[in-house]
Amino acid sequence: MSATIPAGTRIDPARVAVLRDRERARLTQRTRRSGELYARARAVMPGGVPSQFQKADPWPVYLDRGEGARVWDVDGNDYLDFHNGFGVMCVGHANPVVAAAVKARMDAGTHFAAPTEGSVVVAEELRRRWGLPHWRFTNSGTESTMDAVHLARGHTGRDVIVKIEGSYHGHHDAVMVSVKPPPALMGDRDRPAPVPYGLGYPASAVEQTRPVPFNDAAALERLLGELAGRVAAVIMEPAMMNVNIVPPVPGYLERVRELTRAHGVVLIFDEVKTGAAVAAGGATELFGVTPDVVCLAKAICGGLPGGAVGMTAELAALVEDGRVRQQGTFNGNPLVMAAAQATLLDVLTPAAYERLHRLNRALMDGCERVIAAYGLPAHTVGMGSKGCVTMSPEPVREYRDYVTRINHDLTELAWLYHMNRGVFMTPGADEEWTLSVLHADAHVARYVEVFETFARDVTTA
Ligand SMILES: Cc1ncc(COP(=O)(O)O)c(C=O)c1O
Repeated sequence: MSATIPAGTRIDPARVAVLRDRERARLTQRTRRSGELYARARAVMPGGVPSQFQKADPWPVYLDRGEGARVWDVDGNDYLDFHNGFGVMCVGHANPVVAAAVKARMDAGTHFAAPTEGSVVVAEELRRRWGLPHWRFTNSGTESTMDAVHLARGHTGRDVIVKIEGSYHGHHDAVMVSVKPPPALMGDRDRPAPVPYGLGYPASAVEQTRPVPFNDAAALERLLGELAGRVAAVIMEPAMMNVNIVPPVPGYLERVRELTRAHGVVLIFDEVKTGAAVAAGGATELFGVTPDVVCLAKAICGGLPGGAVGMTAELAALVEDGRVRQQGTFNGNPLVMAAAQATLLDVLTPAAYERLHRLNRALMDGCERVIAAYGLPAHTVGMGSKGCVTMSPEPVREYRDYVTRINHDLTELAWLYHMNRGVFMTPGADEEWTLSVLHADAHVARYVEVFETFARDVTTA
């Protein structure tokens, strides 16, 4: 999952700064029309964007349309899309199979707030993929993890939620803690402080969430022992996906499963990013550890806004009789279900996963060749349709490594190189690429070619 780590050339920060300024100026120049839209947008939307994650400097690149593996911005620049809507678009843009299903549903009525067969078909498919017997639908990853927390608290009668330091699980109170804690506030590694991610959460809510480092089962064991009888849930991404990609070390997830069971704690896997993207049954299938609750969204609905929560029969009983309230006007919306059904049954087939895995391997291998040839202090990490170049010569095992080991200036510069050369990449140092079934070998080759241009420029004296 993680390739060999090369020795590394010394990178000159002054050169990085010069290249960054040059590439930023180039991006600004190429995206003038985005700049105009940004000026308009700022008058009606804080930061000129519908969601904080879309903010960018000096402005976001506003897109016009997408087809297959390509997107076009409002200036008419076209790009190969490796951002893929934060990993949602594994089906590719305007996928004809998904589009036909959605159009047919459009003509047959899009919303009833009464169940349709589509929700049954999708729930059956999720049960088949994840092995958990019961499913409900939501409208986003945030709602999925919120419902999971309610389930855990309802089931155990306890309040405390344990989460992984540096993980993002959506923007509800229980999980907006220690998402990207500033080093000055995060406390000792042995006892990380719960740090709210922004304003607006009651102090009492923040106190109920306790962070632990990823990949450290002993730290989790200590905390569960210390808080014996008070912890409702451990919520975690089985592989961290918002600090580049950080895979679990061998044996870690198995030990987490044992510990949560021993302490009567509900184990929640947040598979919003990994679900249907790293394997048919997500990280649960890939790593062979089944939690009590799985949270899904993003890739499962093929580009429409939806999510799902999978649960054990014991937890489902709480939902069935309404002791835990799981509900929403748009849950299981027919249009979203039509997209999810086409995505899961007709597009993301076993053959599609094989192809995604092969392409991803080729992309990682290509980047590894460049890293080795230029002695970049970097390595690749990836699984399924997702991967990244982590700008660190050493592996990253947890958030604190991400803070101290990664050269974030290099990550930003690589992003600018890609954006200026027709490769649309996820903004921010924290992210990864996501491939779609409509990506081809030539697209992967182009990514590697641009990465090589970056590597050559940044290592040339
Ligand atoms: C791991 C994880 N969980 C939950 C969420 C929240 O999902 P949404 O943005 O659909 O609310 C995200 C969003 O990026 C995520 O990456």
